[in-house]
Amino acid sequence: MTQGAANRPHRRALLAAGGALALSGCGRGQAEASGATLYDVPRPDPPPALKELAGFPLGTCVSTGLIDDPDWATLATRQCSQVTAEWEMKMESILKDDGTFDFTRADRIAAFAQREDLRLFGHTLVWYAQDPPALKRIDGDKRAFDNAVRNYILAVVGRYRGQAVAWDVVNEAVTEHGEGLRDCIYSRNLGQEDYMLLAFQYAREADPQAVLLINDYNLEVTPAKRATFMRLVERLLKRGAPIGGIGTQTHIDIHLPPGAGRTAIRELASFGLPIHVSELDVSLRGDRMDLRPREQKLAAQAGRYAEVMGAFLDLPPRQRFAFTTWGLRDKDSWLRRSPNAGDGTDAPLTFDDHGHAKPGFWALADALQTRR
Ligand code: XIL
Repeated sequence: MTQGAANRPHRRALLAAGGALALSGCGRGQAEASGATLYDVPRPDPPPALKELAGFPLGTCVSTGLIDDPDWATLATRQCSQVTAEWEMKMESILKDDGTFDFTRADRIAAFAQREDLRLFGHTLVWYAQDPPALKRIDGDKRAFDNAVRNYILAVVGRYRGQAVAWDVVNEAVTEHGEGLRDCIYSRNLGQEDYMLLAFQYAREADPQAVLLINDYNLEVTPAKRATFMRLVERLLKRGAPIGGIGTQTHIDIHLPPGAGRTAIRELASFGLPIHVSELDVSLRGDRMDLRPREQKLAAQAGRYAEVMGAFLDLPPRQRFAFTTWGLRDKDSWLRRSPNAGDGTDAPLTFDDHGHAKPGFWALADALQTRR
């Protein structure tokens, strides 16, 4: 397939929720009834660079493997102005079994960002899902555990001080359904909320300038979880945690009810803090049986992308911290890899396997272009 053909709109793509261009003055219902299609317009090839349309940082996740792929690097540096390490700045990658640090991979990512003039976003310091052997060994020895966590945060944040503009300090602290806070090695050793407060304090100690964020997922899918998350943020702020921003991962799927993404972003913004849409992708799967043809699913996906970007653009400019998708090409998505691969056909991102723009890309571009 030529690039031109691939970039041509999906002619039969149906209008999905939240579409912008070509529909002004035409409500969603009207457009559907008239058979209007959101993507039935000629599109420029190559597509525009989103980072140039956005007045805020546009991000993607990155790995050392991708840096070495020239096609990916060309796409990423054209489209994006910020990168988040997908795995290689996490504790699992940096903290070795003997308690020493290995920054080889993290440094390569930082060097790539520097070379390409990309803003570096740090992800993540304290995450319940990562309790490497070096920490497990001192589980129960509260003083040693506290020291280890402090040393780790000082080392990691200190190393990229002056380059990483921000860090996800605490990741995914709220339970799956929002009943409360997660029980994890950090909470058991340092206290259920105290571990978060400490992590924020240590990160602040390591870098007085970096914006420090708390990040979580399903905040749009599960309103009860959002409520618990927001109460947590409120308490941490009251206790003096230097929280400078809120990350909402936004791993969603095409069955998310229209409006849910917008509501979440609006509510989360009520603290007045900057918002990072930190890991956006829109799965075609979800737990519902869906027999729609793929093109309709891609249109629905574009609608979700449009909605999230629209909600982000509704924020006052000072609250638009950054807008990050969890990858660019479908083939690089974590939803194509074990244990999330399913049947291997998910296509949650805005570029297809070959790096051609999908309707989801045009949804973002249209939202940015119409709201400039
Ligand atoms: C995922 C990465 O995409 C995978 O490559 C890795 O193996 C596990 O983590 N929430 C987060 C991200 O905060 O760090 C996760 O990234 C996806 C869910």
